[in-house]
Amino acid sequence: MIPDESAPRGRGRSAVRGWLYDRLLSGLTAGWYRAVLTRLPDRARVLDVGIGTGGAVTRCAELVRAKDLRIVGVDIDRDYLERCVSGLSRAGLHEHVSTCLASVYDHRGGPYDAVYFSASLMLLPDPVGALTHAATQLAPTGQMFFTQTFHHRRSRLVEKLKPMIRHVTTIHFGRVTYEDEFRAALVDAGLELVEFVQLKSTRHASACLAVACVQDREQGDLVPFAA
Ligand SMILES: C[S@@+](CC[C@H](N)C(=O)[O-])C[C@H]1O[C@@H](n2cnc3c(N)ncnc32)[C@H](O)[C@@H]1O
Repeated sequence: MIPDESAPRGRGRSAVRGWLYDRLLSGLTAGWYRAVLTRLPDRARVLDVGIGTGGAVTRCAELVRAKDLRIVGVDIDRDYLERCVSGLSRAGLHEHVSTCLASVYDHRGGPYDAVYFSASLMLLPDPVGALTHAATQLAPTGQMFFTQTFHHRRSRLVEKLKPMIRHVTTIHFGRVTYEDEFRAALVDAGLELVEFVQLKSTRHASACLAVACVQDREQGDLVPFAA
């Protein structure tokens, strides 16, 4: 079932939520999308978990077209998806990107060559469940991609304050995320990291890109991505 992320709704408030997200974050996450989309082979079929307003993907429109990618973006936020659909149409991406109002836990599609969680995995109530479910929709050579900010040091105060930012900005930033928790979620879901790079770092946090494969339990081997 899809929780109503945007209630109470009014047209003005709905539009402002998406606009605000794009003003504050899409510029940053567009760089993350570019780093991930660049790694994909041409004509890759991609599941974008939590596509949001689509502001990041539309900023990468040329790359999406040049690689002829086919992206399915799922999200539970109706306001964001409305903005996403009109942005995709303005960017001429309707043949490359489709959207679906659904929770990652309910989505069934694929097979996908890539499943991408951009700033969405660690705000989910059950990251391991989402990974396990998404992994069933990967093609045999598919990979999972993640872009995420990790805080360096544990702080009770920041852990308390971060979820509250939502009440002011309407943006769900999720909980404070630490690298060890992310890595543990991958292991618990039967995934193996094949790449982990820092995209940007400050004194307090780093934005990282991670790539993972499904561990072939019987063989004990990684299933590699066919580029
Ligand atoms: C921080 S935003 C990231 C948006 C976009 N991927 C980006 O990087 O700019 C996280 C997104 O995940 C979505 N989300 C949260 N829970 C979800 C779920 N259960 N299934 C699908 N999307 C979800 C939110 O609605 C939101 O749009």
